[in-house]
Amino acid sequence: MKPFIKHLFIVSLFLVFFSVYNYTIYTSKSDYGNIHLSKKAIQGENLWLKNNCNSCHQLYGLGGYLGPDLTNVYANRNEDYLKAMLNSGVKAMPKFNFNSKEKEALVQFFKEVNQTGFYPNTEAELETDGWVSIKRKK
Ligand code: HEC
Repeated sequence: MKPFIKHLFIVSLFLVFFSVYNYTIYTSKSDYGNIHLSKKAIQGENLWLKNNCNSCHQLYGLGGYLGPDLTNVYANRNEDYLKAMLNSGVKAMPKFNFNSKEKEALVQFFKEVNQTGFYPNTEAELETDGWVSIKRKK
């Protein structure tokens, strides 16, 4: 085989491999296909976006830093607390006027976000010898 043909062959082989690889990666949904917000949670998300909650709060550490991260707030607080918080206004948290349906939707949003994982994804424990051990949550 002439060197030119040989190189063309090799480059074509790489191109085919590259195309198949990209097609597989960009059409596979296995990484994120299982997570769907319910209709109610999407209503909650829309309220979250419309009211700019993210300007003060974070989900997965991203957002404003005036208020706490709310990724796992559902696991740490009960629903009545969350609903009360929304309309009461505490310190820098503004007083909103959500009706009960809107409060339900926001709580549902927190519930489903909580199911997607942990933030921060580590837990620190103080050991008896004074060292801190960091454990990854699963
Ligand atoms: C101007 C900044 C600001 C905005 C905007 C804001 N928050 Fe807050 N939020 C706070 C602060 C600060 C706190 C902490 C209050 C405290 O406990 O001292 C808080 C607390 C909370 C808590 C309780 C967290 C806990 O663990 O006690 C929830 C739930 C919450 N906010 C939800 C929301 C939602 C939903 C929105 C949008 C509709 C929103 N916040 C908009 C500042 C804000």
